[in-house]
Amino acid sequence: MLSLRENREPVHHSACGHECHEDKKLQVNPRPVKISAVGTHVPKRIVTNDELSLTLDTSDEWISTRTGIRERRIADDSEAASDLGAIAAARALEAASVRPEELDLIIVASLSPDMQVPSTASFISGKIGADNTPAFDLSAACTGFIYALATGSAFIASGQAEKVLVVGAEVVSRMIDWTDRSTAVLFGDGAGAVLLEVADSGNEGILGFDLGNDPAGTELLKVPAGGSREPATEETVASRRHFIRMNGGEVYKFATRIIVSSVSEVLSRNGCRVEEVDLFIPHQANIRIIDAAARKLGIAAERVFSNLARYGNTSCASIPLCLDEAAAEGRIHSGELVLMVGFGAGLSWGSCLVRMGELKRIEE
Ligand code: ACO
Repeated sequence: MLSLRENREPVHHSACGHECHEDKKLQVNPRPVKISAVGTHVPKRIVTNDELSLTLDTSDEWISTRTGIRERRIADDSEAASDLGAIAAARALEAASVRPEELDLIIVASLSPDMQVPSTASFISGKIGADNTPAFDLSAACTGFIYALATGSAFIASGQAEKVLVVGAEVVSRMIDWTDRSTAVLFGDGAGAVLLEVADSGNEGILGFDLGNDPAGTELLKVPAGGSREPATEETVASRRHFIRMNGGEVYKFATRIIVSSVSEVLSRNGCRVEEVDLFIPHQANIRIIDAAARKLGIAAERVFSNLARYGNTSCASIPLCLDEAAAEGRIHSGELVLMVGFGAGLSWGSCLVRMGELKRIEE
């Protein structure tokens, strides 16, 4: 895990099954943590690129060739992040046959929380019936899910928790300036949740993380107003400063670079080679970013998972949505190595390498 690293002589690495060298920093996991179940939920309403082009100066051709997105889900006016997140959370718990009161901690990652205060985690805990369970939100933009996985794992690894629910829940459509074609076409709504538990054996579980943040990029992707820097005024509302603003070109360059370096880092720290990765699940922002990074890393297309075409960028929900669909499609098997990587505002990034055991989910 993150907290414990040791330099050692060459050893047989149980995670990847080959020798690691002494200059490698091995991560020793005192209490292995597994991802035991997953649940997801997306809003019913599908908005296609053609529908967007009725109100924006854009086209299906531009959006699909520049991003890979064909449609996205958009929440009803009555739905907030906790509504989607609670359904995903309840599904993960049902799949694992775990009662809400058995949870030791709920962590919610979201860039579109229900409110500034209280936390979306508090709303979700109420909706699923996990009264009195510690619950908090974590803010790391689109990297939030990976940061939340790392946080939840650390609670379990340190013995402070046995069962942690990690939720990525987004109604990003409320954070979008629907008159700005450069951002409006990119995002969608959805939620995904995973249950973290102590792994039954050393042969399964999370092998390690690579987390990072570059504050030089704070200006490249932000929601300028609504916080303590620029509280809401008539002027901030009129100038649409409560919506996401992004320098797409710079974020694109950052993303393709950071996926490669972060993935390389987490693999090397765990003595694994890229050829050993059975399934690569990157944050779903742009198919060109995913393809370019996979090409540079040498990961074959058939080992890369993407559902971007149907959901767009669902921020903190994107990786758990992929995990669930990959499991449903029979693309995740016990014993396989799955590599997840997220990136986003901050500019932040995070990778997680996991040796999968059984991943429980509810069949539709
Ligand atoms: N429809 C039609 N034309 C458009 C659209 C649109 N929706 N959006 C932009 N254009 C135009 C631009 O105005 C520009 O026109 P011009 O040449 O006349 O000036 C032209 O298309 C090219 O624009 P670019 O910005 O250069 O397009 P690019 O190929 O870079 O694609 C995109 C833009 C898709 C945003 C890309 O830069 C990207 O994916 N960036 C990364 C986004 C990302 O990963 N975000 C992560 C967010 S995670 C989080 O934390 C929230």
